[in-house]
Amino acid sequence: MADRHVGIRATGSYLPERVLSNADLERMVDTTDQWIVERTGIRTRRIARDDEATSDMAAEASRRALGRAGLDPKDLDLLVVATVTPDMPFPSTACVLQERLGAFGAACFDLNAACSGWLYSLDMAWGAIAGGRYRNALVVGAEKLSAITDWEDRNTCVLFGDGAGAAVVGETPRPGFISSCLGADGRWGRLLYLPGGGSRHPASHATVDGRMHYMKMEGKEVFKQAVAAMSSAAEEAIRRAGMRADEIACFIPHQANVRIMKAVAKRIGVPFDRFLVTIDHCGNISAASIPIALDEAVSDGRLKEGDAVVLVAFGGGFTWGAMAVRL
Ligand code: UT7
Repeated sequence: MADRHVGIRATGSYLPERVLSNADLERMVDTTDQWIVERTGIRTRRIARDDEATSDMAAEASRRALGRAGLDPKDLDLLVVATVTPDMPFPSTACVLQERLGAFGAACFDLNAACSGWLYSLDMAWGAIAGGRYRNALVVGAEKLSAITDWEDRNTCVLFGDGAGAAVVGETPRPGFISSCLGADGRWGRLLYLPGGGSRHPASHATVDGRMHYMKMEGKEVFKQAVAAMSSAAEEAIRRAGMRADEIACFIPHQANVRIMKAVAKRIGVPFDRFLVTIDHCGNISAASIPIALDEAVSDGRLKEGDAVVLVAFGGGFTWGAMAVRL
């Protein structure tokens, strides 16, 4: 069974209705539309309702992907949710989603590799299905980053948004997944993290007073590492695929900063117009960024069946990865 072809059968995504513009942020912190656009490329991002949790957005994206694949949720045997903003520490958001979908034949777990989480999950699903022990996987990236954003910190609050993307992964008539290259370096963990609420600093009045329930980031250093790691991961995935960069129709990078994407394009010698950009209207949605961008481009016809794409991510941990995939 090890030589069966595995790929992405269908995608779906969901963005919450509420739009938060740079002008709105100008009224909240000391910032300007010009600074945000020039330094990040972001114009608007979506923010979930108070009563809308990560699993609610995941359910919307999942139903769209399952519908397009023509797959009954009962036929899923693996359900993975990549997220750093689970509904709660446990049960997993994947189990919450399973109930919502009625996917009771599936093994369910959450995967935390921060912004690289969806790519990590996709790689795991590929291996699980190629190995022959699973047939149909749902791989979801879903985040409510607004819930862990410090809305008084202009260094971070202008960057993030909420949303979900999903892919049905299964057997395909020809090879979908071509190559993968994942990596991590835990020595950099303290540059991008959320200190409170875990076993190190359980939630208390002191952790809340210290704003430890919000994410912290050393933006400048993260930026440099992101460019280096994403460039080498993308090059390695292309090398392992036995392809040349000019054979790749489209690069779909994690959407953290348009300047990071441009620097990666330059470093790997690919014209920036072959990079997919959604950050202008989505902001950074961590694990959901790539599946949302992929779904947008498939839905509006920019990407077609047979196109070779490279997905490339970087995030907290640090974690990174790239995959070459034929749609
Ligand atoms: O998703 C996974 C990983 N995350 C990333 O990859 C993010 C990586 N980092 C970045 O994208 C960028 O570092 C940021 C967008 C976060 C920041 O851009 P930067 O060009 O690195 O700016 P900086 O942090 O060096 O700050 C430059 C100046 C500072 O002022 P001074 O010290 O020069 O007076 C900041 O205080 O910009 C100031 N600043 C702002 N000004 C207006 C920082 N945030 C803002 C803001 N509005 N929102």
